[in-house]
Amino acid sequence: MQSIQPVTPAITLDVQDLVVDVLTEHGWATVVDGVSFTVATGETLGIVGESGSGKSVTCLAIAGLMPPRQSRVGATALRLLEHDLTSLSRSEMSDVRGRKIAMIFQEPMTSLNPAFTVGDQIAEVLRRHEGCSRRDSKQRATALLDRVGVPDPARRFTQYPFEFSGGMRQRVMIAIALACRPDVIIADEPTTALDVTVQAQIVELLRELQREQGMSVIFITHDLGVVADVCDRVLVMYAGQIVEEASIDDIFESPEHPYTEGLLASVPRMDLPSSELVSIPGQPPRVGAMPAGCRFHPRCSYRRDECVAAGTSPALEWAGPGHVTRCLRHHELTLEGTT
Ligand SMILES: Nc1ncnc2c1ncn2[C@@H]1O[C@H](COP(=O)(O)OP(=O)(O)OP(=O)(O)O)[C@@H](O)[C@H]1O
Ligand code: SF4
Ligand SMILES: [Mg+2]
Repeated sequence: MQSIQPVTPAITLDVQDLVVDVLTEHGWATVVDGVSFTVATGETLGIVGESGSGKSVTCLAIAGLMPPRQSRVGATALRLLEHDLTSLSRSEMSDVRGRKIAMIFQEPMTSLNPAFTVGDQIAEVLRRHEGCSRRDSKQRATALLDRVGVPDPARRFTQYPFEFSGGMRQRVMIAIALACRPDVIIADEPTTALDVTVQAQIVELLRELQREQGMSVIFITHDLGVVADVCDRVLVMYAGQIVEEASIDDIFESPEHPYTEGLLASVPRMDLPSSELVSIPGQPPRVGAMPAGCRFHPRCSYRRDECVAAGTSPALEWAGPGHVTRCLRHHELTLEGTT
């Protein structure tokens, strides 16, 4: 009889023990501290956490976009498909960035060049990375504008970024990101600057494109509601570290870290009056001033002496299949999810 082998999903991105230091006015400080994760082919991974938790720096470091003299990036592994990103020269990295990893940022106006038409900016990416002719690149750029839902794409091709609304500019950025059919798209708060209806349209567009093209997506957001809509799995970051990683169902039904419980409690809910919205008391630690022991302890209502006594932050522990948490007390706690 033939044995049935479990199907292991192919890994597109493998990040192991990523550490990023930045130069501050008080010297070097670690802002991403030992982050490890993988992204499977066709998977959408969410990264959530409060402002300053290291979400953007994690992704900028993977894409080789941290400023060289003001930052130091180290990792035991940083692999994108067959590429070892730690060993690439700047020009090799720039090539990989164009063809294999694409990024979409929060404010599309700052990423688009105001002096060139929108169409030229998409066509330029196709010419540079795919060697397309002028004519082909124009045709493909117009088709991309159409695909991302820009109406009247042939006319819009000749317009400048200021002639587009915020939502339409974000569609242009998505077209640029898709131009070379990347294996990974990193979307860093792509909807934060948009109004709610447009946000929903952009999220839906990304979801459709992801399904259609089978690429992997890393979706950075403050909004756990968006995570539930688009992601398969989520990393929760706090003070430069992953504090919990789980599937979407597990994170919402049975969080295993008090910080995740706090984030879930701060998501507005239709079934509760707005006065019951809770936010996590206190502030995240400042860069270069991490608390001893568990980094979340000053804000954690479940803390005990043991949470501080160890002096170093707890290790990530197994909390179930595909579920890890960085909380010493997770076995004893029953935390509130939202379902
Ligand atoms: N180039 C830099 N030089 C110095 N400090 C930096 C630099 N880039 C980021 N930092 C610091 O690193 C920390 C992590 O920043 P990061 O931008 O990754 O946060 P984030 O989780 O993306 O937050 P937000 O949700 O506000 O975007 C912050 O304290 C930030 O001030
Ligand atoms: S280790 Fe202690 S302080 Fe840290 S999250 Fe768990 S209970 Fe809270
Ligand atoms: Mg950010």
